[in-house]
Formats: sequence, structure tokens, C-alpha cells
Amino acid sequence: MMRDDTYIQRRGQLETYFDRTAVDAWARLTSTAKVSRIRETVRAGRDRMRSTLLDWLPADLEGKRVLDAGCGTGALSVEAALRGAEVVAIDLSPTLVQLAAERLPKALGNGSIEFRVGDMLDTGLGEFDHVVGMDSLIHYRATDMVNAVQALAARTRQSVLFTFAPSNPLLTVMHNVGKLFPRGDRAPAIEPVAESTLRRLIDSHAAMNSWRTGRSVRIKSGFYTSHALELVRQ
Ligand SMILES: C[S@@+](CC[C@H](N)C(=O)[O-])C[C@H]1O[C@@H](n2cnc3c(N)ncnc32)[C@H](O)[C@@H]1O
Repeated sequence: MMRDDTYIQRRGQLETYFDRTAVDAWARLTSTAKVSRIRETVRAGRDRMRSTLLDWLPADLEGKRVLDAGCGTGALSVEAALRGAEVVAIDLSPTLVQLAAERLPKALGNGSIEFRVGDMLDTGLGEFDHVVGMDSLIHYRATDMVNAVQALAARTRQSVLFTFAPSNPLLTVMHNVGKLFPRGDRAPAIEPVAESTLRRLIDSHAAMNSWRTGRSVRIKSGFYTSHALELVRQ
């Protein structure tokens, strides 16, 4: 399938960022090692987000195929696999995928999580019952994000759960100010989007007419703000 240039360009930046620039910080943030007070708020918010998304999956995942789309160091994959799911965990960053494999708890045994390096939209991954993209689409433009969600939904039988960075006027101002600074090693920009805009883009996407939006929750914890949306096949 054709992908927009903006998606491909951003995907390349994210691969560099998550595989090189930020890999150590990301490994630390997702561990139990001590981090700064600011990062503690982020870690706490991310823990809440992960458990929210996991709550939205059926309690019993035995025999269900789950895609952890942009798995990072794999915390969500582990929880889903512990509940019986057959998990495919994919990320652009080989280093993070390697770390995820190393962090696999012994209790899970080999084979309960299939680790992959690559693009979450790779159709070769097959079909899934549930797809979860936690904070892995927040750096894409809203239209690219919705196209990605649609591509994921096309091979999903039950639900697609994903998060976006909710926009508000203050955030938009800060975001625009941030654009004035040289890029250097900064993180690729997060692309905030208003929930109403996102819903409109999803509702008006022709290929999404067999889907409805379900639960919707915003999680704010210090320097972390993210909003989870559930899409359910009807
Ligand atoms: C903010 S991290 C979140 C990681 C993980 N979901 C978590 O919550 O801990 C975003 C991750 O998404 C991955 N990612 C972004 N775009 C991707 C794509 N198109 N295919 C696969 N992974 C992608 C990045 O490499 C990065 O590891």
C-alpha cells in the first residue's frame, strides 16, 4: 500500500530517535531505575495509560492475537501475554526490540511473544483480534495517524486501541515556539490533535464505516499527557 511521504519521513526520524538518540533515556524511563522528578511523573502517567489500555482488552486473552504496535521495551506485550494472548510486538528500533526480548520474564517462556523489527503497518504481520498502539502514533500528522489507524483496523477483528496527544491552545503555542529552536538531537515533534478533529477524520474515513468509537480517556500526570481512544468493529 502507498504511504504518504510525510509518514515515511517521520518514520525515518523516529527510527533514528528511538534507536540512537533517546535509546538510553528510554531504556531507563521504562525500567525501575531512579529517574528525575519530572520523568517520574511521566513514568507514573505511562503506567496509568498502560493499565487503562490493558483494562480495555478482554480479561481473558487466551487464543487471541494481539499486536503491540510500536512496542518499545515491551511492557504492554508482557502483560497481554501473561493473560494468554499470542502477541506480536513490533518496533522500528532494533535496540528497543532487543531490550524487550531481554526483559521477557522467565514465567512467559519462549514463543509467547513474537518480536519483530519493522513498521507496524506491514501487512505481512497478518490479522489480529486486538491492536494496541500506546504513544506510538503521537508523532505523526493527524491525517497520517488516521490512515495508520485505518490500515491497522483493516486487519483487526475486534478492537484497535491507540493514544494521541490532545491539543489545547496552550500546547499549540508551546509547540509553535518549540519549532523556532534548531532541531539538533531534539525529539521529533509530537503532533497534538483535538479529539473532535480526530473523531471527525475517523468518522469521515470511508474505510472506517464498520467501526465505531468506544471508550475515551485522557491521562495527565505532570509532564505526561496522552489520550486513549477505543475503536470497536461493529
Ligand atoms: C513513545 S514510544 C512508546 C513505546 C511503547 N508503546 C510504550 O508505551 O512503552 C513510541 C514507539 O513507537 C515506535 N514507532 C513509531 N512509529 C512506528 C512504526 N511506524 N512502526 C513501528 N514502530 C513505530 C517507536 O520506535 C517507539 O519505540
